[in-house]
Amino acid sequence: MAVVVTNTGGPAFEAKMTVYVFICVLIAAVGGLIFGYDIGISGGVTAMDDFLKDFFPAVWEKKKHAHENNYCKYDNQFLQLFTSSLYLAALVASFGASASCSKLGRKPTMQLASIFFLIGVGLSAGAVNLVMLIFGRIFLGFGVGFGNQAVPLFLSEIAPAQLRGGLNIVFQLMVTIGILIANLVNYFTASVHPNGWRIALGGAGVPAVILLFGSLLICETPTSLIERNKNEQGKEALRKIRGVEDINDEYESIVHACDIASQVKDPFRKLLKPASRPPFIIGMLLQLFQQFTGINAIMFYAPVLFQTVGFGTDAALLSAVVTGTINVLSTFVGIYLVDKTGRRFLLLQSSVHMLICQLIIGIILAKDLGTTGTLGRPQALVVVIFVCVYVMGFAWSWGPLGWLIPSETFPLETRSAGFAVAVSCNMFFTFVIAQAFLSMLCGMRSGIFFFFSAWIVVMGLFAMFFIPETKGVAIDDMRESVWKPHWFWKRYMLPEDDHHDVEKRSA
Ligand code: BGC
Repeated sequence: MAVVVTNTGGPAFEAKMTVYVFICVLIAAVGGLIFGYDIGISGGVTAMDDFLKDFFPAVWEKKKHAHENNYCKYDNQFLQLFTSSLYLAALVASFGASASCSKLGRKPTMQLASIFFLIGVGLSAGAVNLVMLIFGRIFLGFGVGFGNQAVPLFLSEIAPAQLRGGLNIVFQLMVTIGILIANLVNYFTASVHPNGWRIALGGAGVPAVILLFGSLLICETPTSLIERNKNEQGKEALRKIRGVEDINDEYESIVHACDIASQVKDPFRKLLKPASRPPFIIGMLLQLFQQFTGINAIMFYAPVLFQTVGFGTDAALLSAVVTGTINVLSTFVGIYLVDKTGRRFLLLQSSVHMLICQLIIGIILAKDLGTTGTLGRPQALVVVIFVCVYVMGFAWSWGPLGWLIPSETFPLETRSAGFAVAVSCNMFFTFVIAQAFLSMLCGMRSGIFFFFSAWIVVMGLFAMFFIPETKGVAIDDMRESVWKPHWFWKRYMLPEDDHHDVEKRSA
């Protein structure tokens, strides 16, 4: 079973931040960039008339009569399927990716991801009918499923222990950069007729090629080699990435970790045991909550949303560039604060912060945007400003922490399986939002913002009572330092599991 060693405070082994590790991190993180690009590109493409005319003529007709109904002009199940099919495919693929990561290794899994991406790009950018387009999205989804499983594992395993937390958020940073690049590409290709959308969809081919060829340069992680019994190669790889001669202690600790993990024959079954419940439940709910903040209503459909409140196509695309920039910059705040203020502070602060923004946006739309007509300039500007402030809050909290917390709270023997379940839950809820948002906007109108506000209240309360602080806790000490003292989760910490642990440790 795959092992991630995301030590936040365990034994520090001697290591340098070598140029080689830096290059490996950059290349692998391109996987996050492609994920972000795919998130950001669909909103722009679905707002382009050439694209709608070719594939969704009914939506195009409706859009021409936009004055008839602001909230419903884009409501079309097939248009939503264009966006959402990718996430459904990624959900299914993440289980295959978990097996591929364990059996073949992280590097081949990333290479497979880039091949899926390239097929997906070819089919979608060259599409002549809806079937080809949807198949293209499905292949891109396979790429996302394989990439999102392999890249965070790879980053955690290759990083020196003391840099693991920050390097984990590099993945999220690359996601946000991918979204921003997509927003810029959307902006510039919107005026290219009639094939601007093909250029936009084809753009993902560039990072996919970088990932494919780049991954030939990087090494397999020592953990992955050792767990597949290639101990000598593992030791060699460790020496190369750490840049120091004496890697024996770390080597022994990886061998030990792999031994323990190999005793668990079915990690997925182990996930269902009471002792796994706290990280398992938190890991899954974090994905539900991350998506029900409403973030992807903005990331996928920002241009559409801004058009809904009365911007022209260009201004709407430009506003998406602005929100994308804020998303990238605010992620740095998260990287800086996560190990200082801790996870709980960021989750709680941002819940209040995002709630206020959603309520203000909802109230303005309810008061000033009728079913037909547009918002006045000042109100539209206030909406854009509050969308930006809202994105800020998400970018330093529920965004990165949705990926970080599941990667640091599972014990070693269920870490990879637990992470795979978290990735697929994330894809599932992303799919739900992508598929339902435009219909919800049509049915609930401005009420959609109150709907997300209610979810934010729920997740804020959940964070307050059920998410313990994990800042600075050694990853293998969660049971003792975090779950056992917790007022609620302690009930799942049964004494026989202690006994089992002691046996394993002394074995
Ligand atoms: C989420 C994505 C979201 C992105 C926005 C990620 O953490 O998983 O669904 O689009 O953040 O930056």
